[in-house]
Amino acid sequence: MPVADLAVQLAGVPLRNPLVLASGIWGESGDSLLGAWNAGAGAVITKSIGSTPRPGYPNPTIETYGRWGMLNAMGLPNPGIDDYPKEIARARDAGATVIGSVFGGDADEFARLAGRMEATGVAALELNLSCPHAEGYGTEVGGTPEAVETIVRSVRRAVHVPVIAKITPNTADPAALAEAAERGGAAAVSAINTLRALAIDVRLRRPVLAHGLGGLSGAAIKPVGLACVWQIAQRVSIPVIGVGGVATAEDALEYLMAGASAVEVGTAVAFEGIDIFRRLGTGLAALLDELEIPSAAAAVGLARRPPDAPGGPSHAR
Ligand code: DHB
Repeated sequence: MPVADLAVQLAGVPLRNPLVLASGIWGESGDSLLGAWNAGAGAVITKSIGSTPRPGYPNPTIETYGRWGMLNAMGLPNPGIDDYPKEIARARDAGATVIGSVFGGDADEFARLAGRMEATGVAALELNLSCPHAEGYGTEVGGTPEAVETIVRSVRRAVHVPVIAKITPNTADPAALAEAAERGGAAAVSAINTLRALAIDVRLRRPVLAHGLGGLSGAAIKPVGLACVWQIAQRVSIPVIGVGGVATAEDALEYLMAGASAVEVGTAVAFEGIDIFRRLGTGLAALLDELEIPSAAAAVGLARRPPDAPGGPSHAR
């Protein structure tokens, strides 16, 4: 039996393990959130919810590349904040730790949505500042340090729960976005969201996805996510949640060692089903045991550089 302790603290929220269901995957209904919790997730993040219902883009919305990546442009489909609280109640009442994800078109809309989401009893909020292709949302409104700081600050003034800023890798210096989130009062940052990407159908002579551009996720982006987390963890003092291509216990441990306090799992759930959380939990405990690391918390930042080493914080920019 594995003995390593998987429990971690994330921005003051106790998690039974650091393996969190990523937003946008499996999190639309209360039952699906609960399914992820019952499969062993340490917390579950809702689909990104907006002010009004959105049907999303027409099909095709997804293209896969074997098991190494997934391209999607769903168009932020969601039932809207008026309709959503009952789904959260369903998962919360059954004991799940739920984090609410919201997306807005400006700081005021984010703050309003955050207040509504907080009222559902979520443990924390994640701000989608990073969808790589939706007109008027995501990176279009949250892609610069100034915008991140303004939005986070306005949300912080509206709520009491911890605010997590999910930042984009589609910029020259993602860690500058994390620093801006910290200045604005974020309790944590999650990195990364999907990479803006495109697939072309040469026979049809047009993009594969109806929307054209999409977001690339999965194993293909893990090295990019790790680089962002590693740099961010050296430049902010708030916790980092690693996202991008976690499909095995070793992937999760890489993110912890890079400096993440928890990881989000998305595409691997789409590929392998929700039981991946059980496998990841068992596998992570066994791997920590094998490496004689007593706990998930003790692994955080083990691969960070000492301050003045080449590649360390003063060289991380
Ligand atoms: C969508 C949203 C995202 O945040 C993302 O990274 C990819 C796709 C969407 O709803 O289309």
